[in-house]
Amino acid sequence: MTNPFFNRDVISIREFSKSDLEYLFKTADQIQTLQPNRRSSLADGRLLGVMFFEPSTRTRLSFEAAMLSIGGQTISIIEPKTSSTEKGENLHDTVKTVESYVDLIVLRHRMEGAARYAAQVAEKPVINGGSGSEEHPTQAMLDIYTILKERGTISDLKIALVGDLKYGRTVYSLLYGLANFNPRVFLVSPPELRLREEALSDLEGKINLSQHTDLEEIVSDLDVIYMTRIQKERFPDLVEYEKVRGTYVIDNQLLSKGREDLMVLHPLPRTTEIKPEVDSTPHAKYFNQTIYGKTVRAALISLILNKEI
Ligand code: CP
Repeated sequence: MTNPFFNRDVISIREFSKSDLEYLFKTADQIQTLQPNRRSSLADGRLLGVMFFEPSTRTRLSFEAAMLSIGGQTISIIEPKTSSTEKGENLHDTVKTVESYVDLIVLRHRMEGAARYAAQVAEKPVINGGSGSEEHPTQAMLDIYTILKERGTISDLKIALVGDLKYGRTVYSLLYGLANFNPRVFLVSPPELRLREEALSDLEGKINLSQHTDLEEIVSDLDVIYMTRIQKERFPDLVEYEKVRGTYVIDNQLLSKGREDLMVLHPLPRTTEIKPEVDSTPHAKYFNQTIYGKTVRAALISLILNKEI
């Protein structure tokens, strides 16, 4: 199979097939086995432009760590106030400028459509590092990779996506990605934070979905809980946020009602939705996700930059 990522933008996970994702995961495994000098030749002399107009810890640092691990380097705008955006420069001119210095760009932006717009403007590949509440495709890639590494398969697994299904961009990318792998998905949220209608109709017939409000009622049936943070910053009215704050909390008491091998994932950051007591249980896999994030992103950058590895 030819490399499906070579020189491509990564804006939505919907643009990649099951075999594309499997190609990425196989490459991630393969890169781990390379001799250090071979691994660090994958991006030798190449530069990643990191443009983050929203806060981030994992996505930004794992992209940077991934690029360094394969021999590349990075330059960044991570504090928009110190870039010419503060003087009124538009996204078009900022992207054109950054791409003149780098080989590829990763962009995080609060606006839906910003990553796609940047990809249209730029001749160099653009990776969407999170666009408003729309998508976060590389998070879904690492989420799926995590489940496959921890469980070996996704087919027929019972996976609950819990919390803020309205504004959480990771949820949308994950659902579109999971649709390739035949799991059963339980959508668990307060009525106010249900999955957006357009996604429900997009996914109809592509994935087995059911909607719920009570996590405790279904926990004994689940293989995976994918917990999400209520996205306070995306609520147009904080009164609405206060109504749903703290709706779901995972603690050891809840997990005692689940299967012994129930896996808890979270894209992070968390606030109060997973109690720290869960961290030391075998259920907690959310810090494994952060490790897999670097691995998958290193593979993705390598495939975008190199026709063959
Ligand atoms: N999962 C995720 O996107 O985390 P950050 O916001 O810290 O990048």
